[in-house]
Amino acid sequence: LSDGPLKGKKALVTAGPTLEAIDPVRFISNRSSGKQGYAIAAALAELGAEVTLVSGPTNLAVPQGVKRIAVESAEEMLAASEAALPLDVAVMVAAVADWRPAQAADEKIKKDKAGIPAISLVETPDILATLAKGKKRPKLVVGFAAETENLEAHARAKIAKKGCDWIIANDVSGDVMGGAENEVLLITKDSAETWPRMAKEAVARKLAEKIAAELGAKPRQ
Ligand code: C5P
Repeated sequence: LSDGPLKGKKALVTAGPTLEAIDPVRFISNRSSGKQGYAIAAALAELGAEVTLVSGPTNLAVPQGVKRIAVESAEEMLAASEAALPLDVAVMVAAVADWRPAQAADEKIKKDKAGIPAISLVETPDILATLAKGKKRPKLVVGFAAETENLEAHARAKIAKKGCDWIIANDVSGDVMGGAENEVLLITKDSAETWPRMAKEAVARKLAEKIAAELGAKPRQ
């Protein structure tokens, strides 16, 4: 661990998509490369934090000094995230599937059986809200919001609904998804900052520095 401003601080980052099984070979998922989350995990580790990265399936290498826990479903992601408590900071970047099949079939659903199967869906747990409203709440809880319009209004509503401290809103109407750059708006309870378009690694470093400044002012109790 480096001797940076986050030395002695425990951080959780969730990243990547989740996979929700339909049967042993099929799933529903979200588009997510995991790049922004992995970059944030790397940047926090570079500043000296002890970082747990709970990740859905991605093609990315584990950043140096980061402990990765590989998961598939939202429920596994929640369990692994709760197991990382207590925490100084949680940054929830994962593109968690909002719904999962109510029941995953034990055997592969055969195509020639009874026509096209109906898949009934149930909601997955909201990992961000569960941590932000939980008993062992991390000191600082940061969420992400991928939006295509009205970024600030939607992000403000999300802070209230999820109970988090900050939201990083990004406009995904362009070519951000899977791309190398990101353009974000950082919303706190009483401020909003627009960051210029920059590499995902640069967004990560700027966020890690902001987290270090915030935690420096508020040590974990
Ligand atoms: O509600 P929405 O999916 O837009 O919220 C996005 C934020 O909430 C992201 O930080 C995402 O990682 C988190 N989230 C979560 N668990 C869910 C859904 C979203 O942690 N089931």
